[in-house]
Order: sequence, then C-alpha cells, then structure tokens
Amino acid sequence: MSAGRAPHVLLAVCGGIAAYKACEVLRGLQKAGCEVRVTMTADAERFVGAVTFEALSGAPVADDLYDYPGSSIPHIELSEWADLAIVVPATANVMAKLACGIADDCLTSTLLACHGSCPVMVAPGMNTRMWANPATQANVSALRGRGVTVVGPGSGRLACGDVGEGKLAPVEDVVAAALDALGAAPRERDLAGLRLLVTAGPTHEAIDPVRYIANRSTGKMGFALAEAAAARGAEVTLVCGPIPRPLPLPSEVRRVDVVSAAQMHEAALSAFEGADAAICCAAVADYTPARPADHKLKKSREHLDRIELVETADILADLCAVKGGRVVAGFAAETDDLLAHAADKLARKGADLIVANDVSRPESTFGADTNRVALVSASGVEQLETMPLPAVADAVLDAVLRLGARPGSHRDSMR
Ligand code: CTP
Repeated sequence: MSAGRAPHVLLAVCGGIAAYKACEVLRGLQKAGCEVRVTMTADAERFVGAVTFEALSGAPVADDLYDYPGSSIPHIELSEWADLAIVVPATANVMAKLACGIADDCLTSTLLACHGSCPVMVAPGMNTRMWANPATQANVSALRGRGVTVVGPGSGRLACGDVGEGKLAPVEDVVAAALDALGAAPRERDLAGLRLLVTAGPTHEAIDPVRYIANRSTGKMGFALAEAAAARGAEVTLVCGPIPRPLPLPSEVRRVDVVSAAQMHEAALSAFEGADAAICCAAVADYTPARPADHKLKKSREHLDRIELVETADILADLCAVKGGRVVAGFAAETDDLLAHAADKLARKGADLIVANDVSRPESTFGADTNRVALVSASGVEQLETMPLPAVADAVLDAVLRLGARPGSHRDSMR
C-alpha cells in the first residue's frame, strides 16, 4: 500500500440476500478511511442495484468487462488498484469458481487477476446446507490453502428460515477483518474533544409565503464533513439549511435546522461561542428580499417583476471577526478563475482556509458524490485529486488540524 493515501478496497458483491449488508460494509470501510470500489455479479444486482453502490462509493460499479468507464481492462486495473479484495457475501457458487479459477464474468475475472497483486478475503453467506455441503467445504479449504482469508460465517436464523451456520458474519467483524488485513489501525480519534461547527446546505429567502430564492446546494459535502469529524471523535454541531433530500447523519452529531440566511447567521454565531473551530460549507444566499410579503403576491396587482433585495450578513466573515486563535475554514464554489477567487475570499473574509471547488465540472458540481478541491491557505495552494466525499472531508479535516485546530481553544478566545 502506498504511504500517505487511503487504503484501497475492492468490494466484490455476489448474489445472496446478504448483498444488502455489503452496503453497510462499504460504509464501515469508508468511515475507517478506506477508498472503496465495487464489482458485482449480475445476480447481485437482482438483490441490490448497482446505482446504490455507485452512489455510496462515488465510482462506477464494475459489472461488465466490456463496458467500464475509462478502461478497456477493468479486471486488470481494479486488481492493481486494490490493496485488498473482499467478497461480500461470498456465495457457494462464486467460491467454487474461485477454487477452480473460473473467470466468466467481471467479478470473477477481477478476483482471479488479484493473484500476486492483492490479497483476497471472503465472507461467506448462504443457506446452512449449502455451506455444509462437502463440495463447498472442499472449496473453502482449497481457498484457505491458497492464502484466502475466510471471515465467518456465523450461525443463526437465515433468510430462508433455517437455523444454523451460513449467516454472513456481523458487518463490524467483516470490516475489522478487512482493516486488520490492510494493517490499517481502526480510525484514529485524532479530533477527540474538538468542538466543531459545520454549516451545510442552501438557504431559502422568502419572497412571500409560497415563493423563495434558493440555490442548488444539496448539503452532501457538509454532511460528509460532519460525519467524518464525528467518526474522528469531534463533537460536531451541524447548522443545516433546507436540504432538498434527507441525508443520513450519525446520532452523536447535534443538528440545528434553519431556513434563511438570517437564521443560519444567528444559529452559527451562537454555536460558535462554544466551538473550537468552524467549517462554513453552506451555500448561503448573498441577497434576501428586503420586505417579504405576508400574503401571496398576485402578478396582476403587485410588482413580482421588481423584488428589492438587501445583502445578507456574511456568516464566515463574522465568525472570522470573533475567532481569536480558532481555526475557521470556508468554501468557494466557483465556475471560473477558481484559485484567484478563493485567494480573494481567504483575504477578504479573514479565513484560515478556503476549500475551492469548480462547480462547472461534473465531478465537483452540486449533488455529486465526489469532489475535486484545492486547499487555499496562507501557506499556498494544495490541489487534490477527484475523490469520494468522505475522503475529501478527511482531507479538509486534516488541513484544519494542520492549521492548529485543537480542543479547548474556544476558552482561550473568550479571555
Ligand atoms: N458565506 C457565508 N455567509 C454568506 C455568504 C457566504 O458564510 N452570507 C460563506 C460560505 O459558506 C462559504 C464562503 O462564504 O464558505 C464563500 O461563499 P461564496 O458564496 O462563494 O462567497 P461570496 O462571499 O458570497 O462571494 P461570491 O458570491 O461573489 O462568489
């Protein structure tokens, strides 16, 4: 594994009812800091759609040797990309194919190509009689003999109603075994005790009770930051605008929902009183209607073509004005002159870091599951590769730490 980058895990999903648990394994690996790509069999896609794994991993799913974006030999490239391949659930059929060296689809071809390139781990999941069948047991022994690690299976009630051995091992055990094989320590709680404020999502500025001004923000980047920071031990307050679709959030994150820029300003400044650092990821409206109507405006009677706007308060700039020694970061979503605009925002708002992303590119636009950002600070510009949002979140948090964020700094700033 190359030093200084996230471990690469290839998740191979086969056609069994436990395929849905492969989604949780994927999330567990990401939370532990791994980058995950997925290959699936056609049968697996009858249980869970490829689109689910694409959304979670932020990368295309390899399910067709002859149709994989950006590569004509996905099985070879993925086997070389991976530091570990893990099969979840490993069905009797796929283990039999692996034991015989059969490569008749994208998943089995990729696993065969892993030989000499990356270790393979299987987490079997099947009916108890299929597991107990001497053919399956012989295949498992053959795989073990060739260095394949076998995790589980566990015992219990199976989906078919039978009780016995064959159940996929608990998700935590599968993730722990993978991290163990990678030599990756469980996620370091390097933000333990840090009180972090994150703003996320759009704001809505009311014109009247039915109309508002908004923007395309989905909140995904801010939520990824909150989730990654919580996994690393931070006490996170997420001030969240009206996101268009619900997003998952760890229960330990304190969430404060707001609607308008003014409400976000008030909530963020209040939360910042007890915070050690802040990351302003929200796409806050720059202008708001000067006098929102208390009734629905009628186009025949009232001036819907002329809405007087006033500038909103700049939350990031106002946090920076009172930050003292605390680290405050902002984002700059631009469509042109990215780095020049980011450097200007860094200076104008007094921030320690501006995370600049070009929203005209598909991999870093609103709603994408990936982002390609540049970290702009007084010490220069660091351009990062396109990465899934959890990895981008970790990189931003690493930068905030490097800039000196530390637990308890909110107390220093009050003196
Ligand atoms: N921001 C904020 N409050 C505002 C406007 C912006 O906190 N009223 C923050 C955003 O959360 C982001 C950063 O400022 O972290 C940059 O936002 P952006 O809209 O790109 O910058 P603006 O200063 O509004 O400049 P412009 O719209 O001209 O690009």
